[in-house]
Amino acid sequence: MTKILAIESSCDETAAAVVVDGRNVKSNVISTQIPVHTLYGGVVPEIASRKHIERINQVITEALSQADETLDDMDAIAVTYGPGLVGPLLVGVAEAKAIAYAKKLPLVGVHHIEGHISANYIEYPELEPPFLCLVVSGGHTHLVRVADYGKYEILGRTVDDAAGEAFDKVARAIGLGYPGGPKVEAAAKSGDPNAIPFPKGKVGDSEYDFSFSGLKSAVLNYLNKEKMAGHTVNENDLAASFQKSVVDVLLEHGMKGVEEYGAKRFAIAGGVASNQALRSAFEKACHERGVEFFCPSPILCTDNAAMIGAAGYYEYMAGRRDGWDLNAIPGLKLGER
Ligand code: KG4
Ligand code: ZN
Repeated sequence: MTKILAIESSCDETAAAVVVDGRNVKSNVISTQIPVHTLYGGVVPEIASRKHIERINQVITEALSQADETLDDMDAIAVTYGPGLVGPLLVGVAEAKAIAYAKKLPLVGVHHIEGHISANYIEYPELEPPFLCLVVSGGHTHLVRVADYGKYEILGRTVDDAAGEAFDKVARAIGLGYPGGPKVEAAAKSGDPNAIPFPKGKVGDSEYDFSFSGLKSAVLNYLNKEKMAGHTVNENDLAASFQKSVVDVLLEHGMKGVEEYGAKRFAIAGGVASNQALRSAFEKACHERGVEFFCPSPILCTDNAAMIGAAGYYEYMAGRRDGWDLNAIPGLKLGER
């Protein structure tokens, strides 16, 4: 049995978890800073760093206590070291190094996106690579081919805004507040997705890359034009139409990948993967093609440390060990060391 204490602090969630053999989650503690950042309409990096410092020890103590374990029972410490906000990342990395040093435990640095992908291993104990995975979060939009544990081929990515970022910006423009994703989804439930024809979030005729800044501008232009004309905007229709544009292009590129690579399994991951419209659209498309579909529970889609423990386990088994020079890398690329 390999017991890993995992730490995640790349953005606005301070999280710690105890994970056994990569898939058995003994505890998954998340202290969210959303109420703090809501006041400012988005994550304020400096405040996020301070909150991580204030909370991290307590979150780790709680994770160990819920798992009924102590640091002496751990076999390794896994920590997110990128990508993300540098200050927040540094808090987790420094904490992980301190614990690993004091307890003479191996230290394993984990890529945040690898964590999101690995949330699927927790939800589905039988899932094994190869599979395709769409990672959609506040900072990332990647269509990835998971060839094996720790082996990734990026088929497409966003060239500007991430999908979650687009949700957040559109929510701000309509005045729904932060974080925008769940609020836009709630508004979209009572709207007509075909009411406003927005462009799809894509780059020219690139097969797999995404671009959401044009879609965001189209939403803002629409809002301005309607306001100038003295019309009242139906926010629910706008939210539903925007959401449809995002889901349509994600689905189109995802299913193109399924066909080209003859994929038998398709997974989604990241904060935006909690979106019910997205989940249903992928579930249906996969079902129609005889492809097995995987989507983690919302608690595993959002930033958490259990997913870092899952990814950390496979890195640990592959022999990855980091030294005391492990540093936060805000722009860390997937598959890079
Ligand atoms: O994965 P995550 O928790 O953090 C990052 O690594 O970025 O993702 C957060 C993002 C935010 O942009 C948030 O608005 C979006 O995920 N999000 C959603 C939903 N829930 C969270 N977007 C659309 N629909 C949702 N239900
Ligand atoms: Zn994330």
